[in-house]
Amino acid sequence: MKAYELHATKDGLSLALNDKRATPEPGHGEVLIRVHAVSLNYRDLLIEDGMYGSGTKANVIPLSDGAGEISAVGPGVTALQVGDRVTGAFFPNWTSGDVTEAGVTPSLGGPVDGMLSEYVVLPERAALKFAQHLSYEEAATLPCAALTAWHALVDLGRINAGQTVLLQGTGGVSIFALQFAHAMGAMVIQTSSSDEKLERVRQMGAHHTINYRDTPEWSQEVRRLTDGRGVDLIVEVGGAGTLEQSLQAVRVGGTVATIGLVSGVGHINPLPLITRAIRLNGVYVGSHAMFAAMNNAISTHQLKPIIDRTFSFEQAVDAYAWLRSGSHFGKVVITVNN
Ligand SMILES: NC(=O)c1ccc[n+]([C@@H]2O[C@H](COP(=O)([O-])OP(=O)(O)OC[C@H]3O[C@@H](n4cnc5c(N)ncnc54)[C@H](OP(=O)(O)O)[C@@H]3O)[C@@H](O)[C@H]2O)c1
Repeated sequence: MKAYELHATKDGLSLALNDKRATPEPGHGEVLIRVHAVSLNYRDLLIEDGMYGSGTKANVIPLSDGAGEISAVGPGVTALQVGDRVTGAFFPNWTSGDVTEAGVTPSLGGPVDGMLSEYVVLPERAALKFAQHLSYEEAATLPCAALTAWHALVDLGRINAGQTVLLQGTGGVSIFALQFAHAMGAMVIQTSSSDEKLERVRQMGAHHTINYRDTPEWSQEVRRLTDGRGVDLIVEVGGAGTLEQSLQAVRVGGTVATIGLVSGVGHINPLPLITRAIRLNGVYVGSHAMFAAMNNAISTHQLKPIIDRTFSFEQAVDAYAWLRSGSHFGKVVITVNN
């Protein structure tokens, strides 16, 4: 079968096609998935750059996120059958309940092989059915970005109608967060570096928008838009370059869901956390139970993931470059088996 691998070169890790990799066979309790589509996340750039915390296996097949059909089942598989449409689970072992070390070990596409391959074997529990109305390309966007947004808004933020949410940028996590927050009736304030992208989020239901390049002190504008109060929840994907503003933009007693670091890493001043009683909570993707709940919501609201561009399997290197350019809005997808 064909699969991409990350090979060590003198300049770091580099994506390379292996067209003679052995097709894996499902063992006891495992399923073989014929992959139809995969999607990219910012994490995949961190992995390629050798900056991902939990380590990267030599010659790993990259990408955590993909969708396909079950093409064979191993002995002992009971809940799935050939032909079922599934996505892989970002964390194969986090089935439900609170996050634990065992649950977040390993994750696909870094410490163990991922989805940028014609065929993948996963434990039965880690092959998750998805909403009927979604194509393979759409379903391939769910395991990391959508689930992280869902976890932040629902399991952590307990967001409901009338509450206010601040979303940063227009990448994969933030566009899913907009779709979920809008479906729940929350008021959304969204930032972006691009006025054109801000127009698009307004069309999708964002109530207020701020260009963070033109307005670097955007917390003041957020406070103005919320009558001085601040927002209930921030989906924090920026990291060091945004956290200080986030701590000023969230309401007293509000929640900052700490998710990303697109603007880098650094130090934080704990004073506003204390004097404004802010809940600063890390979010790490989510469990299979959260995925099932998210799927129900996606079905009920007939939500469609926003795919920015779809690349062919042969164009995988171009897909990485496109994500790295930051030009995208929503998700970048690669088709594998058409
Ligand atoms: N903790 C977790 O479980 C988890 C899960 C998924 C992702 N993440 C992290 O979350 C972050 C986003 O991931 P992603 O896959 O959604 O990334 P992505 O699709 O590559 O989107 C990145 C977006 O961030 C925006 N951005 C860049 N600098 C910004 C700034 N200073 N302020 C506000 N927005 C800024 C840009 O939006 P504009 O073009 O609109 O400016 C850009 O399109 C990454 O750091 C990723 O590692 C973490």
